[in-house]
Amino acid sequence: MSLQIRPLQSGDRESLYRILVESFDGVSIDQNIDGRLGSTGQCDWQWRKGRHLDDDLRRDPAGVFVATIDGQIAGFITTWMDREASVGFIPNLAVHRDHRGRGVGRKLLESAIQHFRDQGLRLARIETLDQNPVGQHLYPSVGFVEVARQIHFAMRLDTPGSDLGDAV
Ligand SMILES: CC(C)(COP(=O)(O)OP(=O)(O)OC[C@H]1O[C@@H](n2cnc3c(N)ncnc32)[C@H](O)[C@@H]1OP(=O)(O)O)[C@@H](O)C(=O)NCCC(=O)NCCS
Repeated sequence: MSLQIRPLQSGDRESLYRILVESFDGVSIDQNIDGRLGSTGQCDWQWRKGRHLDDDLRRDPAGVFVATIDGQIAGFITTWMDREASVGFIPNLAVHRDHRGRGVGRKLLESAIQHFRDQGLRLARIETLDQNPVGQHLYPSVGFVEVARQIHFAMRLDTPGSDLGDAV
């Protein structure tokens, strides 16, 4: 297996999009919301998650690293930098199911961390869900330290009783 990490190239988006949406099945806040509260219409969780990729590609295309195995895209990581605070953020990391457990995710993380170091940043940040055991194992194993846990809430606004007016 020939694993390479390379910068983003024009033409990558469709593959990255497919990998992102497929990968986050089971570890997506938006999917949890739809599962608990029901769909709100035409914008399903995959569409909402996929939009994050375009945000990431716009925000810092030079901070996106793509993993290829034997020339095929296997996964990617996105990053952006708050230079003022000297913090590097990793909003998305995904590896295609067929290529997991072979060190691709770890290699992508190491590339992002090295990128932040090369840019002179002093801190790196990443998040994972409580329901994501891989993230909770992988991130500490490359040096991240847990600093906080957060609880996400959501509420439907289009069902009877969800209007604040009903409560007063
Ligand atoms: C997270 C993800 C990118 C990791 O990619 P990967 O290429 O499989 O990662 P690696 O092979 O480098 O490392 C995976 C590690 O998790 C471990 N692991 C796998 N399943 C695990 C589980 N259920 N519980 C705990 N650890 C687990 C592996 O043993 C390996 O650790 P090791 O190197 O110490 O043996 C990939 O699983 C993925 O795309 N998941 C869905 C999307 C996602 O969760 N993204 C991150 C959001 S925070």
